[in-house]
Amino acid sequence: MHKQPILGIDIGGTAIKAAIVDPETGLLLSEFHRVLTPKPATPQAIAATLNTIVTDLNWQGVIGCGFPATVQNGIVFTASNIDPSWIQVNAQQLFSNATGCPCYIVNDADAAGVAEMAFGVGKRLSGMTLLLTLGTGIGSALFINQQLWPNTELGHAKFQGSIAERYCAESTRIQEQLSWQAWGERLNEYLLHLEFILHPDQIILGGGVAEHLVEYQSYLSTQATIYAANNLNQAGLIGAAMYAWQKQNSL
Ligand code: BGC
Repeated sequence: MHKQPILGIDIGGTAIKAAIVDPETGLLLSEFHRVLTPKPATPQAIAATLNTIVTDLNWQGVIGCGFPATVQNGIVFTASNIDPSWIQVNAQQLFSNATGCPCYIVNDADAAGVAEMAFGVGKRLSGMTLLLTLGTGIGSALFINQQLWPNTELGHAKFQGSIAERYCAESTRIQEQLSWQAWGERLNEYLLHLEFILHPDQIILGGGVAEHLVEYQSYLSTQATIYAANNLNQAGLIGAAMYAWQKQNSL
């Protein structure tokens, strides 16, 4: 079946990115839009921003939306790096009502993982693949033979007296002005912990630090092969579009 284009949107703490995507090829069919996330990023404010994007693009089809929280059946259950008022909000309903388009919502790391596995470095990988997005927080996406196990939230694993994302997210590296070595060693401790529990065959590192892997790779000592993600900051919206297509066609 030929796949209809889908509007992919990636909602982040700093920016909201959007483009029309061909879910079959992962290619962008429109310009890449980037607008600042409204502050405070309340449900109403984000819904209004989405409506503006839809109007600007004159879009009238399905929307897939990556969101930086656990999302089950369209409902948001966590709010680590977003406004607390999101908890228990049915984002799927809210965005569908605000835009007049059917919307499907997926965790942002799961969305990035879906694109990375289909079109990026994960393309030919089998067995268990763990993708981590290292940014403001740490997002995780787990795949068993290319099949997503959603909402893993491994960035929230209790670790070193706190949670993993506070210990070794990219934002922590910047805030604490850690050298690549100091941060790489922290990341390694976390990866070894995840490896001990899950035993992934490979780990894909995404987010801004992916392109700097050469700076800290020598501090990583997992058995699992480490890869840098290569879809970089468009993976989230591409994967969200692919997720929406799958959802729409599984109903
Ligand atoms: C959230 C995750 C999200 C990650 C990356 C974490 O704080 O809990 O759901 O995937 O940040 O945005």
